Amino acid sequence: MESFLIKGGVPLHGEVTISGSKNAALPIMAATLLTDEPCVIRGVPDLSDTRFMAQILQSLGAETKFDNGTLTVRAIKIHGYANYELVRKMRGSICIAGPLLARLRKARISLPGGCIIGARPINLHLKGFEVLGAKIKIEGGYVDATAKKLVGSTMFLGGRAGSTVLGTANVMMAATLADGVTVIESAACEPEVVDLAHFLNAMGADISGAGSPTITISGVEKLHGAEHEVIPDRIETATFMIAAAATNGEVTIKNARADHLRAVIDKLNEAGVSIQQHGGNLIVRRGKKLCAADVTTLPYSGFPTDVQAQMMSLLALAPGISIITERIFESRFMHVSELARLGAEIEIEGPSAIVKGGRPLSGAPVMASDLRASAALVIAGLAAKGATQVNRIYHLDRGYEKMDAKLRKLGARIQRVEEK
Ligand code: EPU
Repeated sequence: MESFLIKGGVPLHGEVTISGSKNAALPIMAATLLTDEPCVIRGVPDLSDTRFMAQILQSLGAETKFDNGTLTVRAIKIHGYANYELVRKMRGSICIAGPLLARLRKARISLPGGCIIGARPINLHLKGFEVLGAKIKIEGGYVDATAKKLVGSTMFLGGRAGSTVLGTANVMMAATLADGVTVIESAACEPEVVDLAHFLNAMGADISGAGSPTITISGVEKLHGAEHEVIPDRIETATFMIAAAATNGEVTIKNARADHLRAVIDKLNEAGVSIQQHGGNLIVRRGKKLCAADVTTLPYSGFPTDVQAQMMSLLALAPGISIITERIFESRFMHVSELARLGAEIEIEGPSAIVKGGRPLSGAPVMASDLRASAALVIAGLAAKGATQVNRIYHLDRGYEKMDAKLRKLGARIQRVEEK
């Protein structure tokens, strides 16, 4: 296993270019199963998760070619069976269910199970398929979804924590080939859902309202091949913004979408970070001093849960008390005990973490537990005095393209080493 060895205390300076969005690319890749014609997707980040999704498409019968960020998929003849070994490794693979159900009228997919950040049920995905007329059977750890035909209908897709991103994506994809009109109420408004709708419309689907809580899908008979460029990764952008602020540097972030990051920019401003927008570039620098700030994660356009851990690393450096409340995933605080190893003072109280910020951080060996927790530990390590070894960075490689190389270009002293 590999680790990052970081010698901290160096302010980041220079330019970094953001990759295509992982969470937009994954459902778009799944959507290529909806047609037997070739699809070309540009700006696909080279990550273990996107490579894995390509393997899933291949295992279902599709041909894929990945070349320098461009993925070509042709799903001429496919089957609808995805086994445990495939789905277990990446929870995002559940978004093949909608396209398979739409195209083949049947899908047999292993239940994904929970992960370190929470239980992650798929009841809302299944509810949506049922409203469209699918019969769902759960047996032996598998979901069997079958339908003689899918019929458009109106549904409410909100759950305990609000909308569901992949649930909305899955039902939207299933409804593209249904008879009649589907209306999803309480749909997820995330930019990744909008990007998927753009791709589906380019394939010949008829979707309106994506980006709002009401999405309308008028079913069409057939979808065709299409080309698409994936939106920039807003979570990677936020991660580099926070890294620049935490190290007291100044970084120009290229290929950034400020309009996808209003809540993050607003909170960073409140915490004393200056962000200037020049077209697609964001210039991030820390003000005179960092300030404490309270953060609550919410569905879009609220503060994203995928930036909660990184923000915690920054607020650990800000003098005063910050309260960070996690409203999306119940156990997404695994980074707290690891940040404590670097000297951060953080207590967990129910869904909130109370950060007593301003204590200097000092390097230590730490263990990454999930993708965003890993990013938080890297940021803390970059800001800490001395050496930090972040172990198990395979989590990080799932969602950040060449993070170590990008950070080195900004002056960070970070090396990828074999874990001892
Ligand atoms: N939920 C249900 N029932 C469902 C589905 C979700 O109760 O059927 C609950 C979840 O337990 C959670 C909330 O709804 O409390 C929101 O979950 P959501 O379904 O929106 O999450 P997701 O679609 O499975 C995607 C991203 C996650 C990101 C979340 C929230 C992908 C591949 N994953 O997951 O990304 O945290 O939306 O924004 O798009 C990451 O990139 O690190 C990551 C975990």
